[in-house]
Amino acid sequence: MVKPNEQSNRIRVRDKFFRLYLNREKIDEIVSAIAGRVTRDYTGKDPILLGILNGAFIFASDLVRKLNIPCEISFVKYSSYHGMESNGKISRLIGLNETLRGRDVIIVEDIVDTGHTMAKLLDDLKQCEPASIRIACFCFKKQAFRENFTIDYCGLEIPNLFIVGYGLDYDGAGRNFPDIYQLDTPNG
Ligand code: IMP
Ligand code: MG
Repeated sequence: MVKPNEQSNRIRVRDKFFRLYLNREKIDEIVSAIAGRVTRDYTGKDPILLGILNGAFIFASDLVRKLNIPCEISFVKYSSYHGMESNGKISRLIGLNETLRGRDVIIVEDIVDTGHTMAKLLDDLKQCEPASIRIACFCFKKQAFRENFTIDYCGLEIPNLFIVGYGLDYDGAGRNFPDIYQLDTPNG
């Protein structure tokens, strides 16, 4: 059994095998690049980062520690994913209890897939009348995207793969791997 902190080429999460897709060094470079852009764009401002639980908790904590500006961080929780497919029904489980009116909000998400979760949050957020809203996501499955909002800070565009690690889960498991793995099919 591979321990999450060992860098390995192949891991097992529940009943599935996954192979290494993106190592922790590359992940760190991507987060640093996003943090640099956010720092430049928000110098002189005091934004509030809004992470989407559960998946974004690791990316949000890495990103916030690389920002060189004053900021706040809060989280919302939505749910839509079951197993390996988004079921399209999005419900907010915890959420927008901060005073967001007049604030510069940066939504922080681990991955945008169909975009339905983000679209629902954007809708809810507008009711709170923030001064501005931007989106930072670690990765983006462009081919699966079904909405039409703009992603302001996108770490990495990926094909339609199923990935785990760095906060991303398969049925609740695998979030604690520091590297990102893709589902390993028998044919590669
Ligand atoms: P969307 O609403 O279809 O954009 O799905 C977004 C949410 O689904 C993300 O916040 C993730 O939590 C989850 N998700 C999407 N793709 C993956 C994946 O490849 N692995 C694990 N979770 C995923
Ligand atoms: Mg998520």
